[in-house]
Amino acid sequence: MSDLTKTPRELDIEVRRPHFDLSSDLKEDWFDGSAFKTAFENGFSLLFPIGEKAFIESVRNFENDVSDPKLLKEIKAFYGQEAAHRKVHQQYNETLCQMRGYDLELLTKPQVERHRNRYSQLSPFQRLAATVAAEHLTAILADDLMKNKDHFADQGKSIAKLWYWHALEESEHKAVAFDVYMHVGGTLEGRRKALIFATFFILKDTFRSMFIMLKKDGQLWKIRTWIDGISFLFLKPGILRRILIPWMKFFSKDFHPWDLNNMDSIDYWKKQIPQESTS
Ligand SMILES: [Fe+2]
Ligand SMILES: [Fe+2]
Repeated sequence: MSDLTKTPRELDIEVRRPHFDLSSDLKEDWFDGSAFKTAFENGFSLLFPIGEKAFIESVRNFENDVSDPKLLKEIKAFYGQEAAHRKVHQQYNETLCQMRGYDLELLTKPQVERHRNRYSQLSPFQRLAATVAAEHLTAILADDLMKNKDHFADQGKSIAKLWYWHALEESEHKAVAFDVYMHVGGTLEGRRKALIFATFFILKDTFRSMFIMLKKDGQLWKIRTWIDGISFLFLKPGILRRILIPWMKFFSKDFHPWDLNNMDSIDYWKKQIPQESTS
């Protein structure tokens, strides 16, 4: 094992270019017919194009400080995977807004403004810490999704395949930004603070988008919407409840993303996701 990277040697971080035809799924409540679950997942998707651009740039700022060939190879794969995610989620978000009459500019406004006015003022270290923190959140959500093969009632939908594809790749590259951060002397305090901020803003933006979309659909004040929502977030499956312990582990001094070895899930999903190229 390299000194700098704990990503398993047998794991080759692969850049895939799958194609997803999303128009028929996105025009309806694709997630088990639930307005809440659909809006929550769609709200999460809205964050990726801007977020993942920032992730790539924050690591690129430190690329010249890395000479370890294994970590450098992983960095390149990280760029490739995140660039593909950005592109696919941009198409997802545009198609969603077109199909359901949402205003994409309104939905992404707080994130756009925060990146322009506040994020851009952060130091390169703080931006890298923000990436490390956001990557922890995506990695634990991805691991949870990959373990639950019946998360979406209809696994055959293109949209379900998209989320599993993204989850697989988030798991594959989950330690890349972290290993760069440790290598360049990132502090424990810096990454702990970053996780608090990243969690707050990701949840805030996702819920804001969800409220706007549910209101537009006339679903916001329906009791059914919130029964579904509370169950989804806290009870069954209870995604926020289930990620609480993994989330907290990040605060440990000795934490590393590969403390949670999920190679079994990675091997399983590698065989399931579509491989066809968009080009
Ligand atoms: Fe991603
Ligand atoms: Fe990522």
